[in-house]
Amino acid sequence: MARKLVITSGKGGVGKTTICANLGAKLAHLKLRVCILDVDIGLNNLDVVMGIEKNIVYDIVDCIEGRCRIKQALIQDNNEPYLFIMPSTQSLHCDKITKNQIKSIVDELSSIFDYILIDCPAGIDLGFHRAVFSASEAIVVTTPHISAIKDASKVVDILSTYELYSTKLVINRARGDLMAGNEMLSVADINNLFDIDLVGVIPEDDNITTSLNIGGAVVANSKAGKAFLQLAENIHYNTNKIINFQKEYKGIVGYFKRKIKRNI
Ligand SMILES: Nc1ncnc2c1ncn2[C@@H]1O[C@H](COP(=O)(O)OP(=O)(O)O)[C@@H](O)[C@H]1O
Ligand SMILES: [Mg+2]
Repeated sequence: MARKLVITSGKGGVGKTTICANLGAKLAHLKLRVCILDVDIGLNNLDVVMGIEKNIVYDIVDCIEGRCRIKQALIQDNNEPYLFIMPSTQSLHCDKITKNQIKSIVDELSSIFDYILIDCPAGIDLGFHRAVFSASEAIVVTTPHISAIKDASKVVDILSTYELYSTKLVINRARGDLMAGNEMLSVADINNLFDIDLVGVIPEDDNITTSLNIGGAVVANSKAGKAFLQLAENIHYNTNKIINFQKEYKGIVGYFKRKIKRNI
């Protein structure tokens, strides 16, 4: 039976899809069989981020409506052989798809994978509930910005009405330099605003943007790549090691590093 994690946030643009893609790749790198599932029905983001848009023949709606078997819709990742993507549909007329139909797909996938990562759409309406209903665990993503934190807190409240086995927090786009200079809420400040455990901190990393421009948002050995690997290990081994991205910007040397980063 797979662990079924929904990656959610409330607010759009905070990095859910990026985290789904990279967490999936790192778990697969640990030789775990992973399926990432895009339930943002109508807005196919994940396949673009994974660079597999042109390989799609069938999608999740074809599976639900019986036009193909589940295995026919799954697409193997170009780099990680243990990673598969179940694409969303590009059709905008899929409001009829119910949470029970998605759950039946997730339950079927559950017998052939170790992890199912469900990429949740933004908002807290139908699409959100369709995504959360199939999951047994949740990861709530926020950035250090107050609007994202407020939305993530609302989502944590809503998630408490579901019978989830665990709900954990990931802080994305952390700027160690700004946090060390008290110009951005620090990891500890943000953590204190939530009642749930912190499972990962992902730094702001230009490699994510540049990787996307060459056909996929998965990053390898950059700062964010290491943070994604730590996140995968924390989730799989149930640990909570957090890489400290503020440390190098502390002290007198850190002060000058901050000044340099600000001025380039
Ligand atoms: N840690 C990061 N560093 C730099 N850019 C990031 C980071 N996380 C996400 N992004 C960028 O932010 C944008 C929104 O991310 P995305 O994953 O699509 O958000 P969501 O799925 O929550 O809407 C994308 O352009 C992505 O490349
Ligand atoms: Mg997204």
